[in-house]
Amino acid sequence: MYRTHTCGELNASHTGETVTIAGWVQTIRDKGNLIWVDVRDRYGITQVVGEADNVSEGVMKALKNLGREFVIQITGTVAERHSKNPNIPTGEIEIKAQEVVVLNKSEVPPFTIENETDGGEELRMKYRYLDLRRNPVKEKLLLRHKASNETHKYLDSVGFVEVETPYLIKSTPEGARDFVVPSRMHPGEFYALPQSPQTFKQLLMVSGYDRYYQIVKCFRDEDLRADRQPEFTQIDCEMAFVEQEDVLNTFEGLIKHLFKTCRGVSFDYEFPRITYAEAMEKYGSDKPDIRFGMEFVNLNPVAQGKGFGVFDNAELVVAINAKDCAGYTRKQLDALVDWVKRPQVGAKGLIYCKCNEDGTYKSSVDKFFDQDALADWAKACQAEKGDLLLVLSGETHTVRSQMNELRLHMGNELGLRSPNEFKPLWVIDFPLLEWDEETKRYHAMHHPFTSPKSEDMALLDTDPGKVRANAYDLAMNGVELGGGSIRIHNKQLQAKMFDLLGFSEEEAKKQFGFLMNAFEYGAPPHGGIAFGFDRLVATMGGSESIRDYIAFPKNNAGKDVMIDSPSTLNEEQLDELHLSVKAPVE
Ligand code: AMO
Repeated sequence: MYRTHTCGELNASHTGETVTIAGWVQTIRDKGNLIWVDVRDRYGITQVVGEADNVSEGVMKALKNLGREFVIQITGTVAERHSKNPNIPTGEIEIKAQEVVVLNKSEVPPFTIENETDGGEELRMKYRYLDLRRNPVKEKLLLRHKASNETHKYLDSVGFVEVETPYLIKSTPEGARDFVVPSRMHPGEFYALPQSPQTFKQLLMVSGYDRYYQIVKCFRDEDLRADRQPEFTQIDCEMAFVEQEDVLNTFEGLIKHLFKTCRGVSFDYEFPRITYAEAMEKYGSDKPDIRFGMEFVNLNPVAQGKGFGVFDNAELVVAINAKDCAGYTRKQLDALVDWVKRPQVGAKGLIYCKCNEDGTYKSSVDKFFDQDALADWAKACQAEKGDLLLVLSGETHTVRSQMNELRLHMGNELGLRSPNEFKPLWVIDFPLLEWDEETKRYHAMHHPFTSPKSEDMALLDTDPGKVRANAYDLAMNGVELGGGSIRIHNKQLQAKMFDLLGFSEEEAKKQFGFLMNAFEYGAPPHGGIAFGFDRLVATMGGSESIRDYIAFPKNNAGKDVMIDSPSTLNEEQLDELHLSVKAPVE
């Protein structure tokens, strides 16, 4: 046996026992006749002491020769410490070393393996196996494990069956590009890695499995962000004989269970629901952060027609009320203007109106708006003395998206987005289709298998852009945690949908013939949802970046700098795969 105890379990009750621990050297303090070594493993840290008075020269020498991150085995007696450390579970004791075995030496690590490390992101990613030794990173992976385990438990308890689906498939349209895998046996042919198991889970419903789930890797070749990785994990689910209400209730149950068991957070209320249209109107986002208010106010009625061209020519003039911010200095206001003008936000400018404590108003457009007119703005925004109104104008869709950015920015500035507060909400009634100006055609807002609302069915022929879908998302703290829909289970309707999306009959048959065929053999009504597991765990952990919650993530450029991937293939491999590589186009 390498050890009798882990480095996290010894306490005063073990005093006097002879024990053996094994782990990594965290720190060494050498005071000549006394040496302290902190030994770390997954479970904690235990202090070991070498006393020249009590042990052989050999043991003292072995301790003196240790280096950081050496793997060692220590045998000794547990003793109460003189100066106890109440901050760690083993802080009452130390082990008086009698035997030291070096199981393996270590190079000096390229950064310190401490809670706060001196290693930059790139370096830590290159040596991710060392980064993973650090406590904060370990805690995140343990949270992930717990959430995964509780997901299995919960879904099993309500009758879901885990079924694995293939990774080498044909393209599934989820809106991103596919990663493809060349086939050696079929020259010139390729598999695609699944963007999600969407079509397979629907086929499982046709097969009668009734309640399916899978914690599964998905692959999407898209631009990366803090909450996006090219390979990520979903809790993917599908149910037969359900309506939207059944799906929402079932999965609200899952989310409540996970927060309770993994974070000790109880939601003893029903998650609020908001329509997509309302979310866009109030927050300019389909994943609103409702930890704070600052809802949008349409200022068209009070701000247009006063001779200010910028507003008069705009489709929408929209304001938010930053409470108690009238004290913002010129410098702070200029910084806000600069902030909205950054290319990431793209506004041309920002208008403000201070609601002064003395009851007067001061705006950046005083030339066009007198005190009475500004009082109308304030009234529309339910502003009080001391508040600051921030106003943007332009084309509706664009200005809402810019105001969404500004609202979140103000939320951050004013400390209204606490990572320890969790505010879920369902966003429902998404549009079925979205018009793409570039390609001049409709795209499925969720995916092509989403069913239109029965009451909007007639609009499919007359005004497809107005059709709402039985589609829903779960948003929390400004993050889209999951999304799903009730599916089309009728062959004719599915064919009509492909037609609206611009697929010819032949293309639809080629790409989705298998699904259309399956629908000929008794497809039950069905629907489902998928949660972004990385996002769910990161949100639980209070972080906006999912990278820390993935053991071996890719960097911003989609690269794994540790294994140096992606990388080129040699000629032999290329030949075998019947591939030749074109030089990249500049
Ligand atoms: P959707 O495309 O909305 O739906 O994906 C479901 C959830 O997966 C997460 N997600 C991601 N997480 C990290 N990195 C990414 N690149 C990434 N892309 C998506 C999000 C998202 O809400 N088949 C449908 C589900 C269904 O209809 O049942 C689907 O995949 O949290």
